[in-house]
Amino acid sequence: MKNNNERISIAVQKSGRLSEDSLALLTRCGINVRWRSEQLFYHSDNFPLDLLLVRDNDIPSLVSEGVCDFGIVGANLYQEKMLAKETSVANVDIVRYLDFALCRLVIAVPKDFIYNDATSLQGLKIATSYPNLLTAYANKNNLKIKIINLNGSIEIAPRLGIADGICDLVSTGATLEANNLREVVTVFTSQAALIKSAQEFSAKRLHVAEIFQKRIEGSELACGSKYIMLHAPESSLETIARILPGAESPTVLSLQGDSGKMAVHALCRENIFWETLEQLKEVGASSILVLPIEKIMM
Ligand code: PRP
Repeated sequence: MKNNNERISIAVQKSGRLSEDSLALLTRCGINVRWRSEQLFYHSDNFPLDLLLVRDNDIPSLVSEGVCDFGIVGANLYQEKMLAKETSVANVDIVRYLDFALCRLVIAVPKDFIYNDATSLQGLKIATSYPNLLTAYANKNNLKIKIINLNGSIEIAPRLGIADGICDLVSTGATLEANNLREVVTVFTSQAALIKSAQEFSAKRLHVAEIFQKRIEGSELACGSKYIMLHAPESSLETIARILPGAESPTVLSLQGDSGKMAVHALCRENIFWETLEQLKEVGASSILVLPIEKIMM
């Protein structure tokens, strides 16, 4: 991968929290690969990009060492390694957050533990695989806790009697619930992040890397955006422009044969909820259409 001077490469989690959405993002960027079960290396035939499927823990070092140019990791993993001053993140920059794999690192305690505020955690033994993020939280809040390092199945630690509480990732909360635990403190909020090697790119590869990043940016913008079309009395146009969430100057067109009403088209950079449509209706809008956007290039 390293020696090919025209293609770029990306490392993505093979299976787990980030995997499916990371691959879906590449598909939305128009990058095709022919999937084969158990294959870990893919060569896109319509974009100069190679894809490596690996364990998430290995992604930062692959990018830092320049084996891969990009990677998609959880911000939690990146931040933990940063705090640990690991060399695996020494030559890595976060390019952008990707708005998926949303989760939070929390401290959770058994449901029957009496918790009033963070000082209730004073002196507790907390099991975690994020000792550095937990230490940073404890230091910031003047908490003296004992950290029990575990690599997996953290939730079982209180039941085994080796810890009073845990500090682990939560997404739906189902795992905590199944283990009779409740979250009491959020230590870190996380989402997927695109990381990039800080190595120098040749001019050709830099060009490909820029196109790739633009496609990701366009795909991310499109995901959070909607296109809205409506008819409105000319007198309501200003009010309507204020109601439209995250819209730049709307396009206003006259309607054939209807002198009092105009057609308004706008790109909204935020989701449009039913409440917004109801508000628009109240100020005289009609024939309101909200359309999904597939791609955006600014
Ligand atoms: C995390 C965490 C929990 C689970 C919580 O594991 O360790 O086990 O997610 O998710 P929930 O709130 O939706 O139930 P992850 O899936 O990241 O895998 P890991 O065990 O490799 O950390």
